[in-house]
Amino acid sequence: TLRVLTGITTSGTPHLGNYVGAIRPTVIASRTAGMEGYYFLADYHALIKTGGDPARVQRSTLEIAATWIAAGLDPERVTFYRQSDIPEIPELTWFLTCVCGKGLLNRAHAYKAAVDKNRAAGLTEDEDAGVSAGLFMYPVLMAADILMFNAHRVPVGRDQIQHIEMARDIAASFNHLYGEHFTLPEAQIEETVATLPGLDGRKMSKSYDNTIPLFTPREQLKKLIAGIKTDSRAPGEPKDTEGSALFQIYEAFATPEETAQLRRAYAEGIAWGQAKELLFERIDREIAPMRETYQALIDHPERLEEMLKAGAAKARRIATPFTAKLRHAVGLRDLR
Ligand code: TYM
Repeated sequence: TLRVLTGITTSGTPHLGNYVGAIRPTVIASRTAGMEGYYFLADYHALIKTGGDPARVQRSTLEIAATWIAAGLDPERVTFYRQSDIPEIPELTWFLTCVCGKGLLNRAHAYKAAVDKNRAAGLTEDEDAGVSAGLFMYPVLMAADILMFNAHRVPVGRDQIQHIEMARDIAASFNHLYGEHFTLPEAQIEETVATLPGLDGRKMSKSYDNTIPLFTPREQLKKLIAGIKTDSRAPGEPKDTEGSALFQIYEAFATPEETAQLRRAYAEGIAWGQAKELLFERIDREIAPMRETYQALIDHPERLEEMLKAGAAKARRIATPFTAKLRHAVGLRDLR
């Protein structure tokens, strides 16, 4: 069996990018024979970005869990859990920290971007503002998530590829020192949706404030779509599909035939307003059937809580004995 694993950071409301990049592919994989799914809410990771806002982490955990279930994930068929319910994960993080070169972490995109910004503002390394050691350690915690369950495949959007490569490097270092304990994971990228653009054309991301929340009310969804950035070509003028955020989002929610049709409509000069109306219909067609389940779960968090607790127990049936084996491998005392 192929073990598939992925997580979503619980630092905000799930958006269309999370849906097409992580949620939809995992729901599909969970229905495929021969695949064993591990899907989780990355709430330890959330602490890096949400420092001092516990209510946001809780709200986001609930929303992301409800989204996954509403999108069709069957928690009986997969292992669906909250990262912080597995205390073995921070333990493994420490083992991995000790075999991970500092230079590797220096090169992580998110950390590097924060540090480069400080340097540009004239701050020295000793003064680094807004860069926590947690941000620096982010890739090691993520490696522990993946390696704990010896996942083969990690379905993610393009922005996460570097982290999976780092997990491979860290796994290889550990294996080299202590024997073959870890499978080397591979990123699984769905090319058509690897980077879904947001309202302004940049990658849809909580940090750019350009997202379309998945379960925003229909009227609000219409308004947000109306705000997607387009060029100023008038109705009747041919439009470019290349670099069109509207077209790319459409492609993620339409059949290949529908996408081909819109491509022709662009060439024939469809009005932007009309193209936006079509996009609304495609998104709404996919999301509408999930709305009721989503709301019911948000209104009854105790149901989700039960699912997550059962998921954590299932996950720990693997994590606890595996961590015991690793403790032994590195030379620590057996806890049992
Ligand atoms: P996060 O929470 O930023 O995003 C969750 C998933 O959504 C994908 N994604 C996108 N895909 C396409 N287009 C977009 N605009 C877009 N925005 C987000 C992300 O690529 C990701 O797959 N570090 C991870 C969470 C994590 C994790 C893990 C993932 C923690 N441990 C272990 C895999 C395995 C993160 O912050 O994703």
